[in-house]
Amino acid sequence: MSFRGVFISVVLSTALIVGAFMINAQRPRRETMQPTAALVRATGKCAECHRRETSAVVHEFEMSRHNATGVNCLECHRNTEGQESMEHRGFTITKQVTSANCKQCHETEYQQFLRSRHAAPAWASVAGPGDFSKEQIAFSEQFHKGAVDRKPMAITANEGPVAVNTGCMKCHDVGKPNKDGSIGNCTSCHARHVASVELARTPETCGQCHMGPDHSQIEIYHESKHGVLFNAQKVHMNLNARPKELTTKDMPVPTCATCHMSGLEGQKLSHDVTERLSYWLFAPTSEKRPTYQQGQINMKETCLKCHTTPRIDKFYKEAESVVGSTNTLVKQANEIIQKLRDEKLLTPDPYDEPIEFVHFDLWHYFGRTAKHGAFMGGADFVQWHGFYELNVKIAELKKQAEELRTAKREKGKEEGRAKPASRRSE
Ligand code: HEC
Ligand code: HEC
Ligand code: HEC
Ligand code: HEC
Ligand code: HEC
Ligand code: HEC
Ligand code: HEC
Ligand code: HEC
Repeated sequence: MSFRGVFISVVLSTALIVGAFMINAQRPRRETMQPTAALVRATGKCAECHRRETSAVVHEFEMSRHNATGVNCLECHRNTEGQESMEHRGFTITKQVTSANCKQCHETEYQQFLRSRHAAPAWASVAGPGDFSKEQIAFSEQFHKGAVDRKPMAITANEGPVAVNTGCMKCHDVGKPNKDGSIGNCTSCHARHVASVELARTPETCGQCHMGPDHSQIEIYHESKHGVLFNAQKVHMNLNARPKELTTKDMPVPTCATCHMSGLEGQKLSHDVTERLSYWLFAPTSEKRPTYQQGQINMKETCLKCHTTPRIDKFYKEAESVVGSTNTLVKQANEIIQKLRDEKLLTPDPYDEPIEFVHFDLWHYFGRTAKHGAFMGGADFVQWHGFYELNVKIAELKKQAEELRTAKREKGKEEGRAKPASRRSE
C-alpha cells in the first residue's frame, strides 16, 4: 500500500469507528457485540480482495440492505458460540454461517421461524428425530404434535440414501439442525449475500420447494388471478418496501409471502408460516388444526385488506367443501387398500406393490392438489388435476383389487389341481 493509501485508510478507519457506533445505534436491539477492532479492520478488506476472487459475492452484497446500513462481511462470517473457527487472511472466521449468525441481530425472526414447520418438522419428516436434542424435540412438539418425534416417511427406506440426500433433503434442509445448536437456515428465502425482502416476496423463491404434483403451490399461483396480475404488474410495484411499512400501494396484488407472512398495512409480520392456516391440507385426509379459528381469522385479515367480507366468506366456504369431498374420496380409497390388507393380499411394506403406488398418488398428488387449488384460486388444479384424477385412480384401485383377488383364486385352484393324487388316496 502506498503512503497515500495508508493515510487514507487511517482516516477511513477512524471515520468507520465513529460511523460504526452511529450505525450500531440503529441496529436491531438484540445485537450483542460492539464493533471490535477486527470488525473495523475487515470493513472493505474482505470485499477488496474478494472482488478479485469471487466477485459475484461482492456484487450481491453491494445490492443488499446490509451494505446500505453498514453491516460488513465479518459480522456474518465471524464465529459465534459453538462454531468452529478458521484463520483466514489475518481474520478469524467461522467454517459455516448458519441461522445462529443471523440470530445475533434478528432474534425475533429466528424465534418465529423456530416455531414454524419450516424448522424441526421439515427435517424430521425426512430424517426422523435423531439429529435433534431432547429440548429441541420438546420445543417443536408443543406447536406441532407428532411432527418431530416420529419416524422418517417410509418411502425414504425404499428410495435409499442417494435419493434422500440429493432429493428430499435439498428442500427439507430449511430445518436442518446445525452443529452450533441452532436450527435451519435463513438463506433458503433470503439468499446468502443479497439478504433481501424483495427476493423473499417473489413467488419463485417459495416455488423452489413448493412445486410439483405433491405441493403444486407455484403452479396454482401462476394460474390464479393473483399470479397473472402479479406478473403483469410487478414492474410497477415496490417489492423492496420496508416490511413494517408495507401497504397495498406497494403491492396491490398478493404473492405467497403476502398471504402467509407479510405485515400488510399494520398486520403482524411473521416467520411462523403456520399462523394463518386452519387445516392440515398435506395430510391424506385433512382435519382442522387445533388453531383452526385463529388461523382463519389471521389469513382473512390479509384477504380483507383487498377484498370484502362476503366474497372471502364465500371463497372459504367453497374451499372447505372441497376438503370435505376430497376426504370422502380418499377414505373410499383407504378402505379398498385396508380390505386387501385384511385379506392378506398385500405385504405390510407400504410401498412395494403397484396398487400401493396408485393409492399413494391418489392422495399425495391429486387429493392435495384439489385442496390446495381450492384455497389458492386454481380451478384447473381443483378439477382436472384434482377431482378428475381422484376418480380415475379410484377406478384403477377397484380394478387392481379385483385382479389381486382373482389371482388369489386362480392360485388356489392351481394348488388344488396340483394335489389330485393325494386327494384320491384319501
Ligand atoms: C487477500 C485476499 C483475501 C482476503 C483479505 C479475504 N479473503 Fe476470503 N478468500 C480468499 C481466497 C483466495 C479464497 C479461496 C477462494 C477459492 O477457494 O476459490 C477465500 C475464501 C473465502 C471463503 C470460503 C471459505 C471456504 O472454506 O469455503 C469465505 C467464507 C471467505 N473467504 C470470507 C472472507 C471474509 C469474511 C473476509 C474478511 C474478514 C475475507 N474472506 C478476506 C481471499 C481473501
Ligand atoms: C448476511 C450475512 C453475510 C454477509 C454480510 C456476508 N456473507 Fe458471505 N456468506 C454468508 C452465508 C450464509 C454463506 C454460506 C455459508 C455456508 O455455506 O456455510 C456465505 C458464503 C460466502 C462465501 C463462499 C461462497 C461460495 O459459494 O463458495 C464467500 C467467499 C463469502 N461468503 C464472502 C463474503 C464477503 C467477501 C462478504 C462481504 C462482501 C460476505 N461474504 C458477506 C453470509 C454472509
Ligand atoms: C451484525 C448484525 C446483522 C447480522 C449478523 C445480520 N443482519 Fe440482517 N440486517 C441487519 C441490519 C442492521 C438490517 C437493516 C435493518 C433495517 O434497516 O431495518 C438488516 C436487514 C435484514 C433484512 C431486510 C433486508 C431488506 O431488503 O429490507 C434481511 C432479510 C436480513 N437482514 C436477513 C439476514 C440474514 C438472513 C442474516 C444471516 C445470514 C442476517 N440478516 C445477518 C443486521 C444484521
Ligand atoms: C422440491 C422440494 C421437495 C422435495 C424434493 C421433497 N419435499 Fe417433502 N415437502 C416439500 C414441501 C414444500 C412440503 C410442504 C407441502 C405442503 O404443506 O403443502 C413437503 C411436505 C412433506 C411432508 C408432509 C409434511 C409433514 O410434516 O409430514 C413429508 C412427510 C415430506 N414432505 C417428505 C418428503 C420425503 C420423504 C421426500 C423425498 C422422498 C421429500 N419430501 C422430497 C418439499 C419437498
Ligand atoms: C420461508 C421463507 C423465509 C425464511 C426461511 C426466512 N425468511 Fe426472513 N423474510 C421472509 C419474507 C417473505 C420477508 C418479508 C415479509 C414482508 O414484509 O413481505 C422476510 C423478512 C425478513 C426480515 C425483515 C424484517 C423487518 O421487519 O424488516 C428479516 C430481518 C428477516 N426476514 C430475517 C430472517 C432470518 C434471520 C431468518 C432465519 C431465521 C429468515 N428471515 C428466514 C421470508 C423468509
Ligand atoms: C428450501 C425449501 C423451502 C422454501 C424456499 C420454502 N418452503 Fe415452505 N415448506 C418447505 C417444507 C419442506 C415444508 C414442509 C415442512 C414439514 O415437513 O412439515 C414447508 C411448509 C410450508 C407451509 C406449511 C406450514 C404448515 O404448518 O403446514 C407454508 C405455509 C409454507 N411452507 C410457506 C412458504 C412460503 C410462503 C415460502 C416463501 C416465502 C416458503 N414456504 C419457502 C420448504 C420450503
Ligand atoms: C391469496 C392468498 C394466498 C396466496 C397468494 C398463496 N397462498 Fe398458500 N394458502 C392460502 C390459503 C387461504 C391456504 C389454506 C389455509 C388454511 O389451511 O386455512 C393456503 C395453504 C397453503 C399451504 C398448505 C399448508 C398445508 O396445510 O398443507 C402451503 C404450503 C402454501 N399455501 C404455500 C403457498 C405458496 C408457496 C404460495 C406461492 C406460490 C402461496 N401459498 C400463495 C392463501 C394463499
Ligand atoms: C394485496 C391485495 C390482495 C390480497 C391480500 C388478496 N387479494 Fe385476492 N385479489 C386481489 C386483486 C387485485 C384481484 C384481482 C381483482 C380484479 O379482477 O380486478 C384479486 C382477485 C381474487 C379472486 C378472483 C376474483 C374474484 O374476486 O372472484 C379471488 C377468488 C381472490 N382474489 C381471493 C382472495 C383470498 C381468498 C385472499 C386471502 C386468502 C385474497 N384474495 C387476498 C388482491 C388481493
